[in-house]
Amino acid sequence: MPTTMPPTELDWFDTPRLRRLRTAVLRWYATHGRDLPWRENRDPYRIWISEAMLQQTTVAAVKPYFARFLDRLPTLHDLAQAPEDDVLRLWEGLGYYSRARNLHRAAKEIVTRFNGTFPEDVETLMSLPGVGRYTAGAIASFAYDTRAPIVEANTLRLYSRLLGYRGDPRSKEGQTLLWTFAERILPRDESGAFNHAVMDLGATICRPADPDCPACPLKTSCRAFAEGTQAEIPVKAKRPELTDVIDATVVVSSGDRVLIRRRGPEERWAGLWDFPRVTLEAGGAASDAALHRVAIGTLGDWLKENVGLAGRDWAHLTDIRHGVTRYRIRLLCFTAASAAKPATFADDSGLRWVTLQEIDDVPLSMTGRKLAKAVREHTRERRLFS
Ligand code: ADE
Repeated sequence: MPTTMPPTELDWFDTPRLRRLRTAVLRWYATHGRDLPWRENRDPYRIWISEAMLQQTTVAAVKPYFARFLDRLPTLHDLAQAPEDDVLRLWEGLGYYSRARNLHRAAKEIVTRFNGTFPEDVETLMSLPGVGRYTAGAIASFAYDTRAPIVEANTLRLYSRLLGYRGDPRSKEGQTLLWTFAERILPRDESGAFNHAVMDLGATICRPADPDCPACPLKTSCRAFAEGTQAEIPVKAKRPELTDVIDATVVVSSGDRVLIRRRGPEERWAGLWDFPRVTLEAGGAASDAALHRVAIGTLGDWLKENVGLAGRDWAHLTDIRHGVTRYRIRLLCFTAASAAKPATFADDSGLRWVTLQEIDDVPLSMTGRKLAKAVREHTRERRLFS
């Protein structure tokens, strides 16, 4: 029985059309491309750092982090030799800290496996920790003009609309379609400029809301524009339902020092330091007084079991509300004093006593940093630790 293939979105983009699109994209880029700090030169190290930072983070948020990171660790060798705490401190506030740990591991690998020279091909780049198909394509094309396609948030949106793809672009089918298209549309030469261009088109013209279609150099070939479906394409990812959680944390002082602990490899914010922190089993309906009693009891048990320490003079300092992935967290923050002069900890214990000055150089969770600031202000007012 003869079968006919259903026409796919790709069929419309034949060779002459693709050729016209490439020319239009590169011409647009020559006058409208963005000046971004990581495009100043083709150093693969700078490009790699920027791409790691730009995953899940906006250009505006990345710029100051990028400048500071390159200032402190200007070369691959500087990164490979840096203590992990320094790398995490430079990343503090960007979130998704596995990106920083992977950069650090990969830098060491590039030194040992490749003698400090960045690989130029996608497959070898993808063998490095934290380097997926997108990042490998970005490094290979931006640094070396290797003919490697990219699909990230901006190009995903641009290509989904261009193709008029109504399915989920994050599904297996959607990804296959978009990567196939990204491969086909890529010119033989100037892959780096082309990939920058499509990213910029996605970011500045083919915006998520209110795209500037009249200014788009690709509008006459855009399926979504022809059909008026820009607002529906790409289909939105489902937002996870938020779960309410109550956590409690304590700044325990002994003289002019406070107790911090390194978060374990299986924990959220692994490798960062934090004040002792627990999740409360208490229901949300309890009164604040009852919640505080449960919090002090749970934190007290944690301190006894993990540090062999009893706290006294407990006081509620503040609440911090924050979100992490699908959790909406209320964090009850306390201060307490160590009841007895505590023993010192071994270097690898994951526990430290630090002054409120020393804590500036320690990579802390975001809520830990907020709390450290709150305690410092409180100390100034009350001379708490004097
Ligand atoms: N998003 C991800 N990579 C980017 C880059 N190199 N320039 C601008 N936005 C990006």
